[in-house]
Amino acid sequence: MFNIQDNNLKKIISHSKEYGFVFPSSEIYDGLSAIYDYGPYGVELKNNLKEYWWKSMVQLNDNILGIDSSIFMHSNTWKASGHIDAFNDPLIDNRDSKKRYRADVLIEDHIGRIEKKKQKEILKAKKRFKEDFDEKKFCETSPRVLKYIEEIEKISTQLNDYLKSKNLNGLKDLIISLGITDPISGTKNWTDVRQFNLMFSTDMGSVDSNKNLIYLRPETAQGIFLNFLNVINSSRMRIPFGIAQIGKAFRNEIIARQFIFRMREFEQMEMQFFVSPKSEMEWYKKWKNTRIKWHHILNLGRDRYRFHDHKNLAHYANAACDIEFNFPMGYKELEGIHSRTDFDLKAHQKLSGKKLTYFDQKNNKAFLPYVIETSIGLDRLFLAVLSGSYIEESLNDGSNRVYLKIPFPIAPIKVAILPLNAKDKLPDKAKEIYNQLKIQFSTQYDEKDSIGKRYRRQDAIGTPFCITIDYESLETNKVTIRNRDSMQQERISVDKINKYLENNTSLNILLNQLN
Ligand code: GAP
Repeated sequence: MFNIQDNNLKKIISHSKEYGFVFPSSEIYDGLSAIYDYGPYGVELKNNLKEYWWKSMVQLNDNILGIDSSIFMHSNTWKASGHIDAFNDPLIDNRDSKKRYRADVLIEDHIGRIEKKKQKEILKAKKRFKEDFDEKKFCETSPRVLKYIEEIEKISTQLNDYLKSKNLNGLKDLIISLGITDPISGTKNWTDVRQFNLMFSTDMGSVDSNKNLIYLRPETAQGIFLNFLNVINSSRMRIPFGIAQIGKAFRNEIIARQFIFRMREFEQMEMQFFVSPKSEMEWYKKWKNTRIKWHHILNLGRDRYRFHDHKNLAHYANAACDIEFNFPMGYKELEGIHSRTDFDLKAHQKLSGKKLTYFDQKNNKAFLPYVIETSIGLDRLFLAVLSGSYIEESLNDGSNRVYLKIPFPIAPIKVAILPLNAKDKLPDKAKEIYNQLKIQFSTQYDEKDSIGKRYRRQDAIGTPFCITIDYESLETNKVTIRNRDSMQQERISVDKINKYLENNTSLNILLNQLN
């Protein structure tokens, strides 16, 4: 069995398009860079992922409530949050290729190449020494590996320092001194590094003189902060408690590549957990554990996840980490967990002049709560599920099949109803069963093509079960149910199908593991 995880984003992209998961936006006009549309199966999968997140946050926790705030917010929001002044990427152009890059990404890619060389050395030694190989000892003693480690540390420290101090000349000098060339032109003909703000803006109001510059939100979190008191006052929540939200966010990303990994319009699922000051590190650790468990339950393989603790903290955080997933292009950020202190509430209180403190009745004192944030990109989660589920398999009869091993509870279609052929009374019986199931499960009816072809089609969209209605079914009221992964088939009574599917595809299977 070969799993695509090894290396093939291209296959995921073409499979997504061919089977109705993701389409490039505005394709007839040659597309719009880093914007994508979700097709019939994509939207189902996305909705199921949202439901898994929403229920695990809002339904399973009696101290987390949901909201749905608007995309447009008063522009002072972004002044207070720091996005107008600090939500920038350092950009550099290559004069020969006329291409624009993020300076920090060019340097990170360079570090990645050194890391690869280091791994190669380790692999070589592993092969040479076989069972006797002690990787830790080898890394501590091999002069080559030590040199690579030292190089990586030195460059990373410089990069972090320059980013933190916004030293743009330092970034350019580092690119030059490392001899980094443009991947397209191969030259080192770089411009200076400049800051570029990532927010999209537009005007509100139709009369010119009344025009107001307004931003499309770059994160959903600020809608939660601005509604913090509204939620407390209307729900009488006490600290610690959280507010969760799913919604669109917009960033004018410069490096628009890697499919739906980095988009200009994307969806976030964010939760701000309000706690008393000084308790934030305890809650930070708790949310790290809760969130990684949530991911592991999806069963895409525990070794595909890792934590990356941030050294270079964002302007609002006193601790932060990413949950990284091993995407086809390597380990990359899937979710961020941030200890945001009281930065946002304090900044909004100051700029708005409105009191945003929480009153602690027990201790008779008012204070600004600290915040732990969990923030996951829905589109990245979607890509993690697709790339973690895509399987190319050679079968014993010499044929091949491609199937999506999507966890049953989040599969777009749970069951397909397939009459053996489209004649006699088989379609009638099949439609009867379809009508019985469609209220409870996302169900598809298909009578076109051979049964083998129909199985393959359902495999390709990740349908866990196919039900075949044959001539015997008309006599016995029993049908064949086929499991997507094992391809095993069993006979089952029509009146038992609902329970069977419920036991195998309900979202509760995942939610129960969280409880
Ligand atoms: N409120 C905090 C925040 O927005 P972030 O690390 O900038 O933090 C959170 O973003 C998550 O949003 C990321 O972990 C990622 O999954 C997703 N995300 C960020 N930028 C994205 C983009 N351009 N395209 C798709 N997903 C993105």
